[in-house]
Amino acid sequence: MREKRGLGSAPLKGRRVLVRVDFNVPQDANGQIADDRRIVEALPTLNHLRAAGARSILMSHLGRPDGHRDPRFSLRPVVHRLSAVLGQPVPLADDIVGIHAIEQSTRLENGQFLMLENLRFHPGEEANDPAFAAQLSRLGELFVEDAFGSVHRAHASTVGVAKRLPSFAGLLVEREIRELSRLRDGIERPYAVIVGGAKVADKLPLLTSFCGRADRILLGGALAFPFLAARGVALGATRVEAGQEANVAELLNAARTAGTEVVLPTDLVVERPGRPDPEVVDLKRVPADALARDIGPATRAKFLGSLDGTRTCFWNGPLGLAEDERFAVGTREVLAGLGRIPGYHVAAGGDSARVAQELGVSGSFAFISTGGGAALEFVEGAELPGLAVLPDA
Ligand code: 3PG
Repeated sequence: MREKRGLGSAPLKGRRVLVRVDFNVPQDANGQIADDRRIVEALPTLNHLRAAGARSILMSHLGRPDGHRDPRFSLRPVVHRLSAVLGQPVPLADDIVGIHAIEQSTRLENGQFLMLENLRFHPGEEANDPAFAAQLSRLGELFVEDAFGSVHRAHASTVGVAKRLPSFAGLLVEREIRELSRLRDGIERPYAVIVGGAKVADKLPLLTSFCGRADRILLGGALAFPFLAARGVALGATRVEAGQEANVAELLNAARTAGTEVVLPTDLVVERPGRPDPEVVDLKRVPADALARDIGPATRAKFLGSLDGTRTCFWNGPLGLAEDERFAVGTREVLAGLGRIPGYHVAAGGDSARVAQELGVSGSFAFISTGGGAALEFVEGAELPGLAVLPDA
Protein backbone atom coordinates (compact mmCIF):
# COMPACT_ATOMS: atom_id res chain seq x y z
CA MET A 1 0.00 0.00 0.00
CA ARG A 2 1.17 3.57 -0.81
CA GLU A 3 2.56 5.64 2.05
CA LYS A 4 0.31 8.32 3.49
CA ARG A 5 1.24 11.96 4.03
CA GLY A 6 2.83 12.00 7.48
CA LEU A 7 3.51 14.44 10.28
CA GLY A 8 6.84 15.51 8.78
CA SER A 9 5.03 17.81 6.36
CA ALA A 10 2.45 19.13 8.86
CA PRO A 11 2.74 22.75 10.07
CA LEU A 12 2.14 22.00 13.74
CA LYS A 13 3.56 24.84 15.81
CA GLY A 14 0.83 26.77 17.60
CA ARG A 15 -1.88 25.00 15.58
CA ARG A 16 -4.98 23.35 17.02
CA VAL A 17 -4.60 19.77 15.85
CA LEU A 18 -7.51 17.36 16.00
CA VAL A 19 -6.08 13.89 16.65
CA ARG A 20 -8.11 10.68 16.29
CA VAL A 21 -6.67 8.03 18.61
CA ASP A 22 -8.07 4.59 19.39
CA PHE A 23 -8.24 4.44 23.17
CA ASN A 24 -10.92 1.76 23.05
CA VAL A 25 -9.07 -0.22 25.74
CA PRO A 26 -10.31 -3.23 27.70
CA GLN A 27 -11.54 -2.46 31.23
CA ASP A 28 -12.10 -4.78 34.18
CA ALA A 29 -15.34 -5.07 36.17
CA ASN A 30 -14.36 -2.00 38.23
CA GLY A 31 -13.74 0.14 35.16
CA GLN A 32 -9.95 -0.06 35.59
CA ILE A 33 -7.91 -0.26 32.38
CA ALA A 34 -6.91 -3.88 31.90
CA ASP A 35 -4.47 -3.27 29.05
CA ASP A 36 -3.06 0.16 28.15
CA ARG A 37 -1.17 -0.88 25.02
CA ARG A 38 -3.25 1.32 22.71
CA ILE A 39 -2.46 4.34 24.92
CA VAL A 40 1.24 3.53 25.08
CA GLU A 41 1.44 2.92 21.32
CA ALA A 42 0.03 6.42 20.69
CA LEU A 43 2.93 8.02 22.56
CA PRO A 44 5.29 8.50 19.59
CA THR A 45 2.68 10.68 17.85
CA LEU A 46 1.68 12.52 21.03
CA ASN A 47 5.30 13.20 21.94
CA HIS A 48 5.95 14.43 18.42
CA LEU A 49 2.98 16.81 18.60
CA ARG A 50 4.08 18.08 22.00
CA ALA A 51 7.67 18.65 20.91
CA ALA A 52 6.49 20.46 17.77
CA GLY A 53 4.37 22.85 19.86
CA ALA A 54 0.96 21.67 18.63
CA ARG A 55 -2.22 22.25 20.64
CA SER A 56 -3.70 18.78 20.48
CA ILE A 57 -7.36 17.91 20.83
CA LEU A 58 -7.64 14.14 21.19
CA MET A 59 -10.76 12.22 20.25
CA SER A 60 -11.61 8.54 20.69
CA HIS A 61 -14.48 6.17 21.21
CA LEU A 62 -14.71 3.64 24.04
CA GLY A 63 -17.03 0.65 23.79
CA ARG A 64 -20.40 0.88 22.12
CA PRO A 65 -22.67 3.31 24.02
CA ASP A 66 -24.79 3.66 20.85
CA GLY A 67 -25.18 7.41 20.70
CA HIS A 68 -26.11 7.90 24.37
CA ARG A 69 -24.19 9.44 27.22
CA ASP A 70 -23.43 6.52 29.55
CA PRO A 71 -20.97 7.00 32.45
CA ARG A 72 -19.79 3.39 32.14
CA PHE A 73 -18.15 4.37 28.85
CA SER A 74 -16.61 7.64 30.00
CA LEU A 75 -13.02 8.28 28.90
CA ARG A 76 -12.17 9.52 32.42
CA PRO A 77 -10.12 6.41 33.38
CA VAL A 78 -8.32 6.74 30.05
CA VAL A 79 -7.26 10.37 30.62
CA HIS A 80 -5.92 9.38 34.04
CA ARG A 81 -3.72 6.73 32.50
CA LEU A 82 -2.81 8.96 29.58
CA SER A 83 -1.78 11.82 31.91
CA ALA A 84 0.44 9.37 33.79
CA VAL A 85 2.19 7.97 30.72
CA LEU A 86 2.59 11.42 29.13
CA GLY A 87 3.78 12.94 32.40
CA GLN A 88 1.44 15.87 31.89
CA PRO A 89 -2.20 16.43 32.88
CA VAL A 90 -4.70 15.90 30.08
CA PRO A 91 -8.07 17.47 30.92
CA LEU A 92 -11.26 15.81 29.71
CA ALA A 93 -13.87 18.01 28.02
CA ASP A 94 -17.20 16.72 29.30
CA ASP A 95 -18.95 17.45 26.07
CA ILE A 96 -17.74 16.64 22.58
CA VAL A 97 -18.70 19.56 20.35
CA GLY A 98 -20.43 21.86 22.83
CA ILE A 99 -19.44 25.27 24.13
CA HIS A 100 -17.14 23.83 26.84
CA ALA A 101 -15.15 21.80 24.35
CA ILE A 102 -14.76 24.89 22.14
CA GLU A 103 -13.68 27.08 25.06
CA GLN A 104 -11.24 24.51 26.42
CA SER A 105 -9.72 23.90 23.00
CA THR A 106 -9.13 27.60 22.32
CA ARG A 107 -7.43 28.01 25.72
CA LEU A 108 -4.81 25.33 24.96
CA GLU A 109 -1.19 26.44 24.89
CA ASN A 110 1.56 25.05 22.67
CA GLY A 111 2.42 21.48 23.68
CA GLN A 112 -0.80 20.94 25.66
CA PHE A 113 -3.52 18.32 25.19
CA LEU A 114 -7.26 18.15 25.68
CA MET A 115 -9.32 14.97 25.37
CA LEU A 116 -12.93 15.06 24.24
CA GLU A 117 -15.47 12.74 25.91
CA ASN A 118 -16.41 9.49 24.16
CA LEU A 119 -17.31 10.28 20.55
CA ARG A 120 -19.97 7.57 20.55
CA PHE A 121 -21.99 9.47 23.16
CA HIS A 122 -23.14 11.43 20.09
CA PRO A 123 -25.32 9.63 17.50
CA GLY A 124 -23.60 11.62 14.73
CA GLU A 125 -20.31 9.78 15.17
CA GLU A 126 -21.21 6.32 13.89
CA ALA A 127 -23.73 7.78 11.42
CA ASN A 128 -20.93 9.93 9.96
CA ASP A 129 -23.39 12.80 10.19
CA PRO A 130 -22.07 15.76 8.15
CA ALA A 131 -23.31 18.31 10.71
CA PHE A 132 -21.48 16.51 13.55
CA ALA A 133 -18.32 16.13 11.43
CA ALA A 134 -18.47 19.88 10.67
CA GLN A 135 -18.80 20.70 14.38
CA LEU A 136 -15.84 18.45 15.23
CA SER A 137 -13.77 20.00 12.45
CA ARG A 138 -14.27 23.47 13.88
CA LEU A 139 -12.27 22.42 16.96
CA GLY A 140 -9.07 22.07 14.93
CA GLU A 141 -7.12 23.46 12.00
CA LEU A 142 -5.47 20.16 11.02
CA PHE A 143 -6.41 16.51 11.42
CA VAL A 144 -4.08 13.67 12.41
CA GLU A 145 -5.32 10.07 12.04
CA ASP A 146 -3.53 7.84 14.53
CA ALA A 147 -6.39 5.45 15.41
CA PHE A 148 -5.31 2.49 13.33
CA GLY A 149 -7.79 0.26 15.21
CA SER A 150 -10.66 2.39 13.87
CA VAL A 151 -9.70 3.00 10.24
CA HIS A 152 -12.15 0.32 9.06
CA ARG A 153 -15.00 2.49 10.34
CA ALA A 154 -16.42 5.27 8.13
CA HIS A 155 -17.39 7.49 11.05
CA ALA A 156 -17.47 11.27 11.53
CA SER A 157 -14.14 11.29 13.40
CA THR A 158 -12.34 9.05 10.90
CA VAL A 159 -13.72 10.05 7.51
CA GLY A 160 -15.95 13.10 8.00
CA VAL A 161 -13.26 15.23 9.66
CA ALA A 162 -10.53 14.02 7.29
CA LYS A 163 -12.55 15.32 4.36
CA ARG A 164 -12.87 18.77 5.93
CA LEU A 165 -9.38 19.48 7.29
CA PRO A 166 -5.83 19.11 5.93
CA SER A 167 -5.11 15.53 7.06
CA PHE A 168 -2.00 13.58 8.00
CA ALA A 169 -1.23 10.03 9.13
CA GLY A 170 0.17 9.73 12.65
CA LEU A 171 3.25 7.68 13.45
CA LEU A 172 1.29 4.64 14.68
CA VAL A 173 -0.83 4.53 11.55
CA GLU A 174 2.31 4.84 9.40
CA ARG A 175 3.97 2.01 11.30
CA GLU A 176 0.93 -0.27 11.10
CA ILE A 177 0.69 0.32 7.32
CA ARG A 178 4.41 -0.32 6.86
CA GLU A 179 4.41 -3.56 8.88
CA LEU A 180 1.09 -5.06 7.78
CA SER A 181 1.85 -4.24 4.12
CA ARG A 182 4.52 -6.94 4.33
CA LEU A 183 1.62 -9.40 4.48
CA ARG A 184 0.00 -7.88 1.38
CA ASP A 185 2.75 -6.93 -1.04
CA GLY A 186 5.99 -8.74 -1.78
CA ILE A 187 5.39 -11.50 0.79
CA GLU A 188 8.51 -13.50 1.56
CA ARG A 189 7.64 -17.19 1.07
CA PRO A 190 6.82 -19.72 2.31
CA TYR A 191 3.97 -17.90 4.03
CA ALA A 192 1.98 -19.67 6.76
CA VAL A 193 -1.01 -18.36 8.67
CA ILE A 194 -2.26 -19.69 11.99
CA VAL A 195 -5.87 -18.86 12.68
CA GLY A 196 -7.80 -19.83 15.80
CA GLY A 197 -10.59 -18.34 17.85
CA ALA A 198 -14.23 -19.15 17.90
CA LYS A 199 -16.37 -18.26 14.94
CA VAL A 200 -16.04 -19.36 11.32
CA ALA A 201 -18.63 -16.81 10.20
CA ASP A 202 -16.42 -13.96 11.47
CA LYS A 203 -13.22 -15.34 9.99
CA LEU A 204 -14.45 -16.45 6.57
CA PRO A 205 -13.39 -13.32 4.64
CA LEU A 206 -9.94 -13.54 6.22
CA LEU A 207 -9.57 -17.26 5.52
CA THR A 208 -10.81 -16.83 1.95
CA SER A 209 -8.28 -14.06 1.36
CA PHE A 210 -5.47 -16.46 2.25
CA CYS A 211 -6.41 -18.97 -0.46
CA GLY A 212 -3.69 -18.59 -3.06
CA ARG A 213 -1.84 -15.93 -1.03
CA ALA A 214 -0.65 -18.17 1.80
CA ASP A 215 1.15 -21.46 1.31
CA ARG A 216 -0.61 -23.03 4.27
CA ILE A 217 -3.39 -22.24 6.71
CA LEU A 218 -3.20 -23.88 10.15
CA LEU A 219 -6.55 -23.95 11.93
CA GLY A 220 -7.16 -24.35 15.66
CA GLY A 221 -9.67 -23.37 18.33
CA ALA A 222 -13.40 -23.79 17.85
CA LEU A 223 -12.84 -22.44 14.35
CA ALA A 224 -11.38 -25.82 13.37
CA PHE A 225 -14.42 -27.83 14.52
CA PRO A 226 -16.67 -27.28 11.47
CA PHE A 227 -13.68 -28.13 9.24
CA LEU A 228 -13.10 -31.36 11.15
CA ALA A 229 -16.82 -32.12 10.99
CA ALA A 230 -16.68 -31.56 7.22
CA ARG A 231 -14.05 -34.30 7.08
CA GLY A 232 -16.35 -36.66 8.92
CA VAL A 233 -14.85 -36.33 12.43
CA ALA A 234 -17.32 -36.91 15.29
CA LEU A 235 -16.48 -34.41 18.02
CA GLY A 236 -18.48 -35.93 20.91
CA ALA A 237 -20.48 -33.34 22.86
CA THR A 238 -18.48 -30.40 21.46
CA ARG A 239 -20.59 -27.52 20.16
CA VAL A 240 -19.88 -27.13 16.47
CA GLU A 241 -20.95 -23.86 14.84
CA ALA A 242 -24.01 -24.70 12.78
CA GLY A 243 -24.94 -23.50 9.32
CA GLN A 244 -21.37 -23.22 8.04
CA GLU A 245 -21.22 -26.50 6.13
CA ALA A 246 -21.49 -24.92 2.66
CA ASN A 247 -19.02 -22.13 3.50
CA VAL A 248 -16.50 -24.59 4.89
CA ALA A 249 -16.79 -26.85 1.84
CA GLU A 250 -16.38 -23.85 -0.45
CA LEU A 251 -13.34 -22.64 1.43
CA LEU A 252 -11.67 -26.05 1.38
CA ASN A 253 -12.36 -26.22 -2.32
CA ALA A 254 -10.97 -22.73 -2.97
CA ALA A 255 -7.83 -23.58 -0.98
CA ARG A 256 -7.31 -26.81 -2.92
CA THR A 257 -7.77 -25.07 -6.27
CA ALA A 258 -5.39 -22.27 -5.27
CA GLY A 259 -2.73 -24.66 -3.98
CA THR A 260 -3.02 -23.55 -0.35
CA GLU A 261 -2.73 -26.39 2.13
CA VAL A 262 -5.22 -26.41 5.03
CA VAL A 263 -3.68 -28.03 8.10
CA LEU A 264 -6.17 -29.33 10.68
CA PRO A 265 -5.74 -30.84 14.16
CA THR A 266 -5.20 -34.59 14.42
CA ASP A 267 -5.78 -34.90 18.16
CA LEU A 268 -7.50 -32.85 20.82
CA VAL A 269 -7.43 -32.11 24.52
CA VAL A 270 -10.94 -32.69 25.83
CA GLU A 271 -12.86 -32.14 29.04
CA ARG A 272 -15.37 -34.76 30.20
CA PRO A 273 -18.11 -34.39 32.80
CA GLY A 274 -17.16 -35.81 36.18
CA ARG A 275 -13.49 -36.19 35.27
CA PRO A 276 -11.26 -33.52 36.77
CA ASP A 277 -8.30 -33.92 34.42
CA PRO A 278 -8.29 -33.07 30.72
CA GLU A 279 -7.65 -36.01 28.37
CA VAL A 280 -5.84 -36.25 25.06
CA VAL A 281 -7.87 -38.05 22.40
CA ASP A 282 -7.23 -39.08 18.86
CA LEU A 283 -9.76 -37.77 16.34
CA LYS A 284 -10.90 -41.29 15.55
CA ARG A 285 -11.86 -41.94 19.16
CA VAL A 286 -13.52 -38.85 20.61
CA PRO A 287 -15.83 -40.05 23.44
CA ALA A 288 -19.50 -39.13 23.11
CA ASP A 289 -19.43 -36.91 26.25
CA ALA A 290 -16.15 -35.11 25.37
CA LEU A 291 -15.88 -31.34 24.93
CA ALA A 292 -12.91 -30.32 22.78
CA ARG A 293 -10.86 -27.57 24.45
CA ASP A 294 -7.40 -27.47 22.88
CA ILE A 295 -5.22 -29.02 20.20
CA GLY A 296 -3.34 -32.12 21.34
CA PRO A 297 0.40 -32.89 21.43
CA ALA A 298 0.45 -34.62 18.03
CA THR A 299 -1.18 -31.54 16.48
CA ARG A 300 1.32 -29.23 18.18
CA ALA A 301 4.15 -31.24 16.62
CA LYS A 302 2.39 -31.31 13.25
CA PHE A 303 1.82 -27.53 13.31
CA LEU A 304 5.43 -26.82 14.26
CA GLY A 305 6.56 -29.17 11.48
CA SER A 306 4.56 -27.22 8.92
CA LEU A 307 5.84 -23.90 10.24
CA ASP A 308 9.45 -25.00 9.97
CA GLY A 309 11.19 -23.22 7.11
CA THR A 310 8.44 -20.64 6.59
CA ARG A 311 9.68 -17.07 6.10
CA THR A 312 6.50 -15.18 6.92
CA CYS A 313 3.83 -16.04 9.46
CA PHE A 314 0.62 -14.36 10.52
CA TRP A 315 -1.25 -15.38 13.67
CA ASN A 316 -4.75 -14.52 14.80
CA GLY A 317 -6.73 -16.17 17.58
CA PRO A 318 -5.96 -18.80 20.24
CA LEU A 319 -5.81 -22.50 19.31
CA GLY A 320 -7.77 -23.55 22.39
CA LEU A 321 -9.58 -22.13 25.39
CA ALA A 322 -6.40 -20.25 26.33
CA GLU A 323 -7.94 -18.25 29.19
CA ASP A 324 -8.03 -21.58 31.11
CA GLU A 325 -4.45 -22.59 31.91
CA ARG A 326 -5.33 -26.29 31.36
CA PHE A 327 -6.16 -25.51 27.73
CA ALA A 328 -3.52 -22.87 26.98
CA VAL A 329 -0.75 -25.36 26.21
CA GLY A 330 -1.49 -25.69 22.49
CA THR A 331 -1.42 -21.97 21.81
CA ARG A 332 1.60 -21.36 24.04
CA GLU A 333 3.73 -24.18 22.63
CA VAL A 334 2.98 -23.46 18.98
CA LEU A 335 3.66 -19.73 19.38
CA ALA A 336 6.76 -20.30 21.51
CA GLY A 337 8.00 -22.72 18.83
CA LEU A 338 7.26 -20.14 16.16
CA GLY A 339 9.61 -17.79 18.01
CA ARG A 340 12.47 -20.22 17.38
CA ILE A 341 11.81 -20.22 13.62
CA PRO A 342 13.52 -17.33 11.83
CA GLY A 343 11.27 -15.09 9.73
CA TYR A 344 8.82 -12.23 9.87
CA HIS A 345 6.00 -13.00 12.33
CA VAL A 346 2.98 -10.79 12.91
CA ALA A 347 0.10 -11.08 15.39
CA ALA A 348 -3.11 -9.12 14.88
CA GLY A 349 -6.78 -8.95 15.52
CA GLY A 350 -9.23 -9.50 18.35
CA ASP A 351 -7.51 -10.19 21.62
CA SER A 352 -4.46 -11.86 20.06
CA ALA A 353 -2.10 -9.25 21.53
CA ARG A 354 -3.45 -9.84 25.05
CA VAL A 355 -3.34 -13.64 24.67
CA ALA A 356 0.27 -13.46 23.46
CA GLN A 357 1.18 -11.30 26.43
CA GLU A 358 -0.60 -13.50 28.97
CA LEU A 359 1.03 -16.64 27.58
CA GLY A 360 4.46 -14.97 27.57
CA VAL A 361 4.99 -15.41 23.81
CA SER A 362 4.89 -11.77 22.61
CA GLY A 363 8.61 -12.11 21.85
CA SER A 364 7.80 -14.55 19.04
CA PHE A 365 6.51 -11.65 16.94
CA ALA A 366 8.32 -8.92 15.04
CA PHE A 367 5.12 -6.90 15.10
CA ILE A 368 1.89 -7.00 17.12
CA SER A 369 -0.81 -4.80 15.65
CA THR A 370 -3.01 -2.54 17.79
CA GLY A 371 -5.84 -3.26 15.36
CA GLY A 372 -8.67 -5.72 15.83
CA GLY A 373 -11.07 -5.81 12.90
CA ALA A 374 -9.07 -3.06 11.17
CA ALA A 375 -5.90 -5.17 11.08
CA LEU A 376 -7.76 -8.23 9.79
CA GLU A 377 -9.44 -6.22 7.04
CA PHE A 378 -6.09 -4.67 6.11
CA VAL A 379 -4.44 -8.09 5.90
CA GLU A 380 -7.38 -9.35 3.82
CA GLY A 381 -6.53 -6.64 1.29
CA ALA A 382 -9.66 -4.55 1.84
CA GLU A 383 -9.68 -0.79 1.28
CA LEU A 384 -10.18 0.87 4.65
CA PRO A 385 -12.19 4.12 4.58
CA GLY A 386 -10.11 5.84 7.27
CA LEU A 387 -6.94 5.26 5.24
CA ALA A 388 -8.41 5.81 1.78
CA VAL A 389 -9.46 9.32 2.80
CA LEU A 390 -5.90 10.36 3.78
CA PRO A 391 -3.71 11.91 1.08
CA ASP A 392 -0.80 9.82 -0.20
CA ALA A 393 2.72 10.97 0.67
C1 3PG B 1 -11.59 -2.12 17.97
O1 3PG B 1 -11.37 -2.33 19.16
O2 3PG B 1 -11.54 -3.02 17.11
C2 3PG B 1 -11.83 -0.71 17.52
O3 3PG B 1 -11.65 0.19 18.56
C3 3PG B 1 -13.16 -0.54 16.84
O4 3PG B 1 -14.21 -0.74 17.74
P1 3PG B 1 -15.65 -1.12 17.19
O5 3PG B 1 -15.58 -2.53 16.67
O6 3PG B 1 -16.59 -0.96 18.35
O7 3PG B 1 -15.97 -0.15 16.05
